[in-house]
Amino acid sequence: MTRVFSGVKPTGHLTLGNYLGALRRWAEVDQHQADALFCVVDLHALTVDHDPARVRRLSRQAATLLLASGLDPKRRTVFVQSHVDEHARLSYLLECVATDGEMRRMIQYKEKAAREQGRGGSVRLSLLTYPALMAADILAYDTDEVPVGEDQTQHVELARDLAVRFNHRYGHTFVVPRATAPKVAARVMNLQDPMSKMGKSDDSGPGIVYLLDEPEVVRKKVMRAVTDSGQGVVYDREERPGVANLLEILAACEGGDPEALSGAYASYGALKKDTAEAVVEVLRPVQERHRELCADPGYVDGVLRAGAEKAREMARPTVDAAYRAIGLLPA
Ligand code: AMP
Ligand code: TRP
Repeated sequence: MTRVFSGVKPTGHLTLGNYLGALRRWAEVDQHQADALFCVVDLHALTVDHDPARVRRLSRQAATLLLASGLDPKRRTVFVQSHVDEHARLSYLLECVATDGEMRRMIQYKEKAAREQGRGGSVRLSLLTYPALMAADILAYDTDEVPVGEDQTQHVELARDLAVRFNHRYGHTFVVPRATAPKVAARVMNLQDPMSKMGKSDDSGPGIVYLLDEPEVVRKKVMRAVTDSGQGVVYDREERPGVANLLEILAACEGGDPEALSGAYASYGALKKDTAEAVVEVLRPVQERHRELCADPGYVDGVLRAGAEKAREMARPTVDAAYRAIGLLPA
């Protein structure tokens, strides 16, 4: 059985990028083919400036959206990272295997640290060590596959390196994981700035479609998407990033190939209109189910409690084995 693990950070409202790049796949493919765990990684949300009440709210919302996207908690484990101590326990060991240099090479760290420093702010130490915690999330569960969007592949590569290094130094302990990315929409771009990822922690609302946006809001955002100056609908990510992004979103929503779809459109207007409707239709069932789940918050809390219990049982033997292998005296 292939073990699958993935996670989402409660740092903002979930976006269409999260859904097409990760959540939808978790629900559609991964939960049927594999023994899967899906986690709201709340400890990761503390690596940047945060408001405690907001993180709490967003964590419950993210968990509710995982279930609304179709993850079946009877078959799969859905839980919150901070409810399972093994993540933090293992993270420390992996900090003792990783080097300062490899952490500093992470693109996401470099970008976020530069942004913070540009604003005159400081960078939390946990932002630098974050990939060790992410590696712990993955390695604690003997994970084979990590379904993520393109922005996370470097972090999963690092988790791989750490697993290999640990096994080599201290004896075979961890399964070596690999990242899997979706065929289309592995990197959904901001509609107002198609050179940047559609990220949930960004401030520019008009370029980001949130999973819980009303249909009218979705339509407005897609219709106002920035397109390119060239003529005709052509799929070219380098030269025509705005149009390519719309074609990818449409292809991901309807099932299809962005290049093939480009031939069906003579104008940007028609492409935007169809893309907007396709997004509205993809989000509709998720929003309906989310509404139903919100009416029963006790249900979501129960799922998370049971999920944490199961996750704890799964992670403990591997993390205990790592403690012994690295030279710590058994308690
Ligand atoms: P995050 O929002 O950083 O917690 O990401 C949760 C999951 O969504 C990860 O697997 C990301 O790779 C994926 N993801 C986030 N933003 C995008 C995007 N714009 N396009 C595709 N996948 C994304
Ligand atoms: N770092 C990931 C992100 O920002 C979230 C994450 C944390 C994750 N731990 C993980 C994803 C483990 C996959 C597996 O999107």
